[in-house]
Parts: sequence; structure tokens; C-alpha cells
Amino acid sequence: MNLPYGDKKTVKFITNVGLITSNGPHGHDITPVEWTHQISYKPGLIAICLNDSHAAYENVSKTEEFGVNLCTVDQSRLSSIAGHVSGKEYDKIAALKELGFEFYNAKKIKVMMVKGAAVNIECKAIKKIKLGDHVTFVGEVVEASNNAGKEPLAYHKGRYWAMDRTIEKPSQEEREKMKQIVEQHKK
Ligand SMILES: Cc1cc2nc3c(=O)[nH]c(=O)nc-3n(C[C@H](O)[C@H](O)[C@H](O)COP(=O)(O)O)c2cc1C
Repeated sequence: MNLPYGDKKTVKFITNVGLITSNGPHGHDITPVEWTHQISYKPGLIAICLNDSHAAYENVSKTEEFGVNLCTVDQSRLSSIAGHVSGKEYDKIAALKELGFEFYNAKKIKVMMVKGAAVNIECKAIKKIKLGDHVTFVGEVVEASNNAGKEPLAYHKGRYWAMDRTIEKPSQEEREKMKQIVEQHKK
């Protein structure tokens, strides 16, 4: 069965917004991608799922490299702008620079990276897999840096969220009780 865009079940997921930077037939581009996931520690691998109508898809297909810049809570406007027009028709990076957002040249690949993102990760694509209506690119991490104090944005129910409430851990007493019950079910 299908799980359509915007469906009540689809929007229950909580995702990051990876600002995917690329450079290829459409020039330098930036595309928000909520389907951005770390899928391996050793080596570091990141999967991004792109619709094949996007400029980012054509750029990454051609050059086999992309930047992952995790959007912060103070970059939601950047994501909105980059997510509503295509690099096939607009130079989004030039427009965003004029709006005050800053970029720098990636160290190991030929793309621009977003200054002040929660993390900046440079990837070389090692796999391209067509799955349903999106194409998954798996990127091997070749360079990564963390920006201390920059909080990633969450995406949920079609809106941007800040992660500023943690759920309290159970008390020691409650934990002991749960442990006892789990132990009774040891195989
Ligand atoms: C918050 C947000 C998340 C998005 N997530 C994805 C995604 O996971 N995959 C995808 O293909 N498009 C996603 N999009 C849509 C693209 O970012 C959008 O169509 C963009 O304009 C394509 O730009 P491009 O043609 O320059 O690559 C998302 C858009 C927004 C605003």
C-alpha cells in the first residue's frame, strides 16, 4: 500500500533536515532533505533519499559527491527558501547569501557548505539505489566537523521544531522493578 505525502501516518515521523549541497550540471545547489540518516559508524555512511526530479539528484548523480549540513533551529528560513524553488531555475545559494546566510568551500569535495550548521559532513557517493519513488544515495564520509552549541532542527507534522524538552528518566525504584520483570522473561 502507499503512504502518501502529508498523510496523517507519514507526518508522525520526526526527522532532521539535511541541507544537501551539490555542484554539477545545475551549478552549486542546496536542497533540504528530511530523509537524511547516518547508517554506519565504521566507516561513517550517510543515506539521503532524493526525488529524481530535483536538481540535487542530477548534480549528485553526475559528480558522486554531496555535502550534508544539518539545519539548525536558527536556519529554518534557509530551509524554507531552499525547499520551495529548484536549482534548475534559481541560484539559491546566491539568493541565500544576499539574505545573509554564509557558506564556505568544502575541504575534500567541490561543493559549498553551510556555515553555522549543526554539523557539516562531506560525502563521496558510493551507492545509488532506486527504491520506490525516491533514489537513495549512500555517501561515505570524507570530512566532518561539529559546531558546538548549534542545535539541530527537527521536522514533524510538516513543521519545524526545536528539541528543548527531554523526557525524565524513570526513578531508580521504577528501573529496579522493570529490571526484575525483564529478568523473569530471560530465555
Ligand atoms: C523540510 C523539507 C524537507 C524535504 N525533504 C525532502 C526529502 O527528504 N527528499 C526529497 O527528495 N525532497 C525533499 N524536500 C523537497 C525539496 O527540498 C524541494 O523540492 C527542493 O526545491 C528541490 O530543490 P532542487 O531541485 O534544487 O534540488 C524537502 C523540502 C523541505 C522544505
